[in-house]
Amino acid sequence: MQEIKFYSGENIPLELHKVRIVQKLNLVPIERRLEALNEGGYNTFRLSTKDVFLDMLTDSGTNAMSDNQLAAMMQADDAYAGSQSFVRLQKAVEDVLGKKLLLPVHQGRAAENIISLAYVKKGSLVPMNYHFTTAMAHITQNGGKIAELLYDEAYKINSDHPFKGNMNIEKLEEVIKHQGANNIPFIRMEASTNLIGGQPFSVQNLRDVRAMADKYGIRLVLDASLLGENAYMVLKREEEFKNSNMGEILKIMTGMADLVYFSARKLSSSRGGGMCTDNMTIYKELEALVPLYEGFLTYGGISIREIEAMAVGLYETLDESMICQSPSFIKYLVEALDAKGIPVIKPAGVLGAHVDAMQFCAHIPQTEYPAGALASALFLISGVRGMERGSISNQRDEYGNETYADMELLRLAVPRRVFTLSQIKYVEDRLNWLYDNRLLIGGLRFVYEPPVLRFFMGGLEPTSDWPQKLMAKFKEDFGESL
Ligand code: F0G
Repeated sequence: MQEIKFYSGENIPLELHKVRIVQKLNLVPIERRLEALNEGGYNTFRLSTKDVFLDMLTDSGTNAMSDNQLAAMMQADDAYAGSQSFVRLQKAVEDVLGKKLLLPVHQGRAAENIISLAYVKKGSLVPMNYHFTTAMAHITQNGGKIAELLYDEAYKINSDHPFKGNMNIEKLEEVIKHQGANNIPFIRMEASTNLIGGQPFSVQNLRDVRAMADKYGIRLVLDASLLGENAYMVLKREEEFKNSNMGEILKIMTGMADLVYFSARKLSSSRGGGMCTDNMTIYKELEALVPLYEGFLTYGGISIREIEAMAVGLYETLDESMICQSPSFIKYLVEALDAKGIPVIKPAGVLGAHVDAMQFCAHIPQTEYPAGALASALFLISGVRGMERGSISNQRDEYGNETYADMELLRLAVPRRVFTLSQIKYVEDRLNWLYDNRLLIGGLRFVYEPPVLRFFMGGLEPTSDWPQKLMAKFKEDFGESL
């Protein structure tokens, strides 16, 4: 795709779509935002959208859908079994991801459940570039453990490494030798590694992982939830592929995995999820679990309308002008924040901009959850809802001890084709103000901590009256402005 240059020399991501349906937003006064935080236990998952202005919690199920997706939903074949909508989805999966055998599931973590039930047992170890919350929870629920094998560069906030999601091949071999290949049910590679800032891996790295999997006879599982963006980054950043296209890169990557699974809430801007393979043995090992946990094999717990949207959405991931939209807005925001000295993960990745709370709130110890505190503070002063991706999102170890995250991030998701550039500029502006007033942000502590995936519904409280003080400063500086 050709880049569009501005005469002014400004670097602006230009939208190659037009808006035809809109949804009204509310920006409620700061006093109401403070009440909402208190009601929601300083956990942005527990906020109600009536109090949220820009919802940057996630891109999961929140990407804008296209006219063609909505049109396709009208032709849904709602048969319990043998639905033609499923046939269309199978064709899309084969055309885009290059795999013939498809098992539908209601979302990504449902695939993680089924794969873990089928392959993970006590004593299993799953090497991966990095964990995702739900992937790890399913593996540990089944008695397994994980080994995270990124290169050191991945943990550097300020880096220019194009592929921080790469798996450390030397460490992978060490782990396999130490653990024994028999105890490793599969190697998991996550495209656009979510929790370290949406950072991609290279095709070359995937080739090296594949070679290791072949050498020791271990399955390679690819989490393709953010594969479209990973392929886009390969196109932009990996020399060998600079004259390639999205379709070729996607198939090269999926072609190396024995099993591919995905959250369609991300990959195809719809709902649902799936697992696909060309390996009949793997297919059979997973097949029996789908009707048990999800639904019949031609709907897998997904509404048939969404299956139609998923099929069209998969084809649309081949369109560079669509897939570039979120990464180019993220790049714009990251570069703007970086220019003001605000600590953000670099290089800009996919999914969202990631603010480094460890530096932003260097005065808040990790025991008081700096990323959660920053997420609450930003919501308070702007109505922008981000997501904590730090120690609150971590799970306790097997002895119940707190495990502190490698990174304390505030993730500001940029779903595809949802926000305008002035909204992104508003986020930048409010973050600038917050950075200048960062010493007013204080810590948080748990008052309610669920045993599994605590970040979803956990409740916290501020360790002092810092939210009131931050509000007072906001009102001093902004007067009557919302
Ligand atoms: N894998 C990755 C890499 C993900 O980012 C997600 C979800 C899943 C698996 C699970 O898929 O939500 O459909 O069950 N990520 C969302 C997020 C929740 O906000 O990053 P799911």
